[in-house]
Amino acid sequence: MTKVIYPGSFDPLTLGHLDIIKRAASMFDEVYVGVLVNREKTPLFSLEERVNIINKAICDLPNVKVEAFEGLLWDFCQSKGCNVVVKGLRNSEDFEYENSQAALNSIISKGELETIYLGSRQSLSIVSSTNAKALASLNVDLKEFVPDFVEELLKEKLVK
Ligand code: PNS
Repeated sequence: MTKVIYPGSFDPLTLGHLDIIKRAASMFDEVYVGVLVNREKTPLFSLEERVNIINKAICDLPNVKVEAFEGLLWDFCQSKGCNVVVKGLRNSEDFEYENSQAALNSIISKGELETIYLGSRQSLSIVSSTNAKALASLNVDLKEFVPDFVEELLKEKLVK
């Protein structure tokens, strides 16, 4: 059984994240979406909200599970019996960042944790949680960025 972990902050889930989840789910037996509990940053959406949003968006994907994790990604991967991480790449900047994270994870796991990349679709290459939040606060249409129900949640929080 091939299991992969797709980790991130998901503050909130975007259509870019959802595309990577769907593509991973079509290639692997099981996909765990790992939602980082980051006590240093204050996210817009609470951990519970971020997990609930992803669960709602993936309800038609039976081989995808969503779980929060804290601490080392490698510890979370081991707890799931998994040694492959999936990340999405939108551009060369993502590659620089993700490849150094992958190298770190390889060192931490003594070479056991592999990272594989899925290139984003062209239309999703400018989509990010940061952009979605910035545009939501300006009340811009977000249908190219996030699922409709996430747009509503973003605007409830950000449109004054
Ligand atoms: O969506 P993000 O914020 O780019 O996701 C970053 C994430 C969660 C993948 C990364 O911060 C992470 O793996 N954090 C866990 C701590 C850890 O294991 N760090 C060591 C090497 S990355």
